Amino acid sequence: MNRRLECLLHLLPKESRGIIDVGTDHAQIPIALAEEGYGGNILASDIAEGPLRTARAAACEHRVDDRIRFLCCDGLDLCPSDAIDTILIAGMGGDTICGILDRTEWIFNDDYCLVLQPMTHAEVVRYWLVHNGFRIKKEAVIAESGHVYQMFCAGLGKSERYLDADYLTGRMDSDREGDDPHTLLLWERERLIKKRDGLRKACLEQSGEARFYENILLELEERLKNADRG
Ligand SMILES: C[S@@+](CC[C@H](N)C(=O)[O-])C[C@H]1O[C@@H](n2cnc3c(N)ncnc32)[C@H](O)[C@@H]1O
Repeated sequence: MNRRLECLLHLLPKESRGIIDVGTDHAQIPIALAEEGYGGNILASDIAEGPLRTARAAACEHRVDDRIRFLCCDGLDLCPSDAIDTILIAGMGGDTICGILDRTEWIFNDDYCLVLQPMTHAEVVRYWLVHNGFRIKKEAVIAESGHVYQMFCAGLGKSERYLDADYLTGRMDSDREGDDPHTLLLWERERLIKKRDGLRKACLEQSGEARFYENILLELEERLKNADRG
């Protein structure tokens, strides 16, 4: 299991009613949960039959297939809301994650904990959470194989104020796990510089979008300086 998955596993509760891994693919997390002796329900869903076949075969190989309930569905569409209290969605685009959450009415309830790891657009997922009545309770960053992965745990609740830069990196005062958040600041700064330079090349440096990036870049520079001082 790679460090990203290990960190996600660590963010999941050790004891609870049940966990669903949405977009499970090889079912590495459900298998690890069963092997570690997690006592709640373990569900694994995927939108495609192919990954689910792989997931079932892997669970059989590890002799935990009787512990995992497999569902072929889009997002949480076939997930029984009373079987679980924790929803893991990892390794998909931020837009797909927001789409899944958006259409699942029953998650808007303080029974549920969300553990999310978008591959792209983490800022869109944070924005969705903050503006849909969720509070991000924990942040984690893992730098691995040339990518910086962001993951966070959220539950229903009122959020603190988020500045524009906070949507990209999480609030700096968040409870954090994983690698040094400095790595994430440098990663996001690089990404923004590329976007800003693209707009400059297109002679759009005076556009609202370019000015928006400039402002966030200033804030990220400030955070990097503070991190260096700290
Ligand atoms: C890159 S894999 C991620 C596997 C694992 N969750 C991880 O983090 O390593 C993405 C998986 O999500 C599944 N998937 C994509 N969109 C989905 C959706 N709307 N609902 C359920 N599964 C989805 C894909 O079929 C694929 O197996």
